[in-house]
Amino acid sequence: MEKEKILIWDLPTRFFHWSLVASFAGAFLTAESQRYRDLHVLLGYTVLGLIVFRLLWGVVGTRYARFSSFAFAPRRVFDYLKSLLTRTPQHHLGHNPAGAWAIFLMLALALCTGATGYAAYNEIGDEWLTELHEGFANAMLAVVVVHVTGVLLSSLLHGENLVAAMFSGRKLGSPQNGIRHTHWAVAAMLGLAVAGFLGSGGDFSLGAARNAAPAAASDHQAQPRGGRHG
Ligand code: HEM
Ligand code: HEM
Repeated sequence: MEKEKILIWDLPTRFFHWSLVASFAGAFLTAESQRYRDLHVLLGYTVLGLIVFRLLWGVVGTRYARFSSFAFAPRRVFDYLKSLLTRTPQHHLGHNPAGAWAIFLMLALALCTGATGYAAYNEIGDEWLTELHEGFANAMLAVVVVHVTGVLLSSLLHGENLVAAMFSGRKLGSPQNGIRHTHWAVAAMLGLAVAGFLGSGGDFSLGAARNAAPAAASDHQAQPRGGRHG
């Protein structure tokens, strides 16, 4: 059958991806300085919120966004990598097995980074917790480097621009393999939730008052509880 550009990545998945890139990068760049601590925490929570969304979308989302479509056994990763050395590399419309493992690892590390960041911020642990938080963040950065290298490499080997596909949602394939709906309304709700959260400056009343100076603490406590995005 003639191949044409078909829809693979729905809009929520694409929005999730590029917002995750921006918020993770932002959280990383604002991590060192005390001056940007609030912004760091705000972006860190944004990362967490996005991951929570992705975990849900991985269950109820469209075909190629669903975790079941890219849960490959380790052996499949090996077979895929081996095939890259041949003239006919395995081609996957959705995530390939190697990419899929990096994705699961990034989702898990982002959760661990966010959770330990929350704990460090609320002084639940000692210095070791901050160290652990930093360790998770650095481990995630390492996987991101592998991820981006993998994306560029497989784009070259397959002669297919995967980065452009993460923007347009489209790849070359048989029409019957494409998804039918891009779910723009879900993406719009996610976008509004993220924009609303960032615009509000965050609500750190979930224990953050303990970290604040006494004068600021009463301000924090005056704010309503809850108000989580997502
Ligand atoms: C902080 C940096 C990054 C993180 C945390 C990240 C994370 C992810 C995640 C979680 C996915 C899975 C998407 C999904 O199904 O929900 C993904 C896929 C993808 N990412 Fe990234 N990414 C990052 C940076 C980048 C950059 C800089 C590029 C472009 C050069 C890129 C290109 C892609 C592409 C093309 C895919 C789809 C791969 C495929 O075709 O199977 N990513 N990324
Ligand atoms: C998920 C994305 C996140 C990334 C990539 C990230 C990254 C980092 C890194 C690399 C550091 C170490 C900075 C240094 O060298 O001193 C750090 C520190 C810190 N992060 Fe995060 N973080 C994230 C999320 C969060 C969240 C959600 C919170 C709070 C709710 C948080 C709170 C903190 C605090 C309080 C510190 C300073 C700890 C201290 O020095 O006492 N982070 N973060």
